[in-house]
Amino acid sequence: MNFKTLSEKRYSVRSYSGEPVEEEQLHYILECARLAPSAVNLQPWKFYVLSSQEDRSLLQQCYKRDWLSQAPLYILLTVQHDVEWVRSDGKRHGDIDVAIAAEHICLAAAELGLGSCWVCNFDAQLCHRLLNLPEEEEAVVLIPIGKAAADSKISEKKRKDLAEIVIRR
Ligand SMILES: Cc1cc2nc3c(=O)[nH]c(=O)nc-3n(C[C@H](O)[C@H](O)[C@H](O)COP(=O)(O)O)c2cc1C
Repeated sequence: MNFKTLSEKRYSVRSYSGEPVEEEQLHYILECARLAPSAVNLQPWKFYVLSSQEDRSLLQQCYKRDWLSQAPLYILLTVQHDVEWVRSDGKRHGDIDVAIAAEHICLAAAELGLGSCWVCNFDAQLCHRLLNLPEEEEAVVLIPIGKAAADSKISEKKRKDLAEIVIRR
């Protein structure tokens, strides 16, 4: 599968069959995240794999959507604010690094035929508290992963045309 096909194949899955993700698949996905680039190669991230019923229900409190509970596991990506690169003008780059790793996860999952969905609209402070995260870490993105349910439909891929977003000078 070439990269464009993979990019088309990945979509936000909001309906899961509930089948468990195999350990080998999880390892592959995490390896792809580990290989993501980061500013100054600082790798200011942690990947929390949450699959126990207890941990999953904690996260479900932070993002109350019925579909979320269908996914067999979640990966929560945090940024380590004491590790991230900060440019001389003060711009922090940890969120960018974490975003790249997160998309590696989603694309790797899609390659394996698994569904995923970026979730940022969760209660990050509650999540920090419930999971007892270290002070210097901030929860950035929550990614449910699992086999898409048979009724899950690929999103329309409504995207702006290149003509609208590409500026050639
Ligand atoms: C930074 C970011 C945050 C997102 N947060 C959420 C979210 O909280 N809940 C959700 O259901 N989808 C979320 N999404 C998924 C987007 O809605 C989705 O990627 C977009 O509509 C394009 O659809 P597609 O992923 O199916 O191609 C998020 C995506 C990104 C990149």
